[in-house]
Amino acid sequence: MTPSYELKDPTQVLSPSLLFYKDLIQANLRRMIDIAGSVERLRPHIKTHKTREIVGLAMDMGIRKFKCATIAEAELLADCHVPDVLLAYPLVGPNCERMARLAQTYPECRFAVIADHPAPVQALSAAMARTGTQVSVMLDVDVGQHRTGIVAGPPAIKIYEQFARSPGLAPGGLHIYDGHNHQENVADREAAVRQGIVPVLEMRDTLEKMGVPVPRLVLGGTPTFSVFAKLALPKGECSPGTCVLHDDGYGRRFADLAGFVPAAVLLTRVISRPTPRRVTFDLGYKAVASDPPAGKRLILLNVPEYEAVLQNEEHLVIETPAAERFQPGDVAYAIPTHICPTSAMHRHAYVVENGTVTGQWEIVARDRVLGV
Ligand SMILES: Cc1ncc(COP(=O)(O)O)c(C=O)c1O
Repeated sequence: MTPSYELKDPTQVLSPSLLFYKDLIQANLRRMIDIAGSVERLRPHIKTHKTREIVGLAMDMGIRKFKCATIAEAELLADCHVPDVLLAYPLVGPNCERMARLAQTYPECRFAVIADHPAPVQALSAAMARTGTQVSVMLDVDVGQHRTGIVAGPPAIKIYEQFARSPGLAPGGLHIYDGHNHQENVADREAAVRQGIVPVLEMRDTLEKMGVPVPRLVLGGTPTFSVFAKLALPKGECSPGTCVLHDDGYGRRFADLAGFVPAAVLLTRVISRPTPRRVTFDLGYKAVASDPPAGKRLILLNVPEYEAVLQNEEHLVIETPAAERFQPGDVAYAIPTHICPTSAMHRHAYVVENGTVTGQWEIVARDRVLGV
């Protein structure tokens, strides 16, 4: 069921803008906890929203561990007094020094990072040791996406042993992200997850027999976290992100995610009626993620039977037989296909409660550098 996203009074709301529906975000967070089984088994990714206030809503529900993709997001989390932060992105170049500065700035936060290669591990170790700080390092295990990571096996074990030997580092466990497991049929997805995890668990057993600790496994994204939750692996944590705000891309593709509801919507206005069948909105690809193909970047909610025929930086042109119903200034609402990059395009989101804008939340970590 699509909830009503209509504002009671949109007259003072700028367009294009991003609206966050607080009660829907809270419902998505509750559903995420239900699926994971407990807050201890969850480590939500914050790249989807990058906001302090949504971290706060999750912490109010007892979530204490989070995952992120940038140093700015890690800093935001530490600044929100999150005690346990995983920066799930390989650190190279000056980011090793930044990580050390972050650990120095927030000594009360336990940071972990991921790695898959000996050279950056050495650089990170040197940076941490220079500042007298420590960070856990999780081995990024490639289970088939081939984006980052190393396949489970003897070379991977060697790198993990390096974490234990290096000053300023400690072995932090195994990180598995399986963004390739997007099978629409849930049974196929589950079979792929179960198969992919076998060599990872064998490697964990080998490491533990060698006396090298594997304190946690961080597993999956939104499409697979219910499968990992069912596996109930000891020391396993699920790391979905998108479902906190949810979007039309995942919603349309995965029927089993029906319990999550889009909680972020774009407000746009008609700016022109250039032909009898055309309506132009102020919703270009500087306001909505353009990684989906043109014409498939959003769903307009209160526009019947339309086709998106052109999108420029600040314009969205549609054709519809109902064009005559629309006049410049009319408001429409759209669900983005991919919410995560969409959030990062807006400095603020309007917060909506009971159909009324009650405030604005800053998308703080859309910037790549905050303090360190
Ligand atoms: C490493 C990592 N973990 C977790 C996630 C969250 O996955 P999802 O967007 O499916 O919730 C992502 C998403 O890109 C990711 O890259």
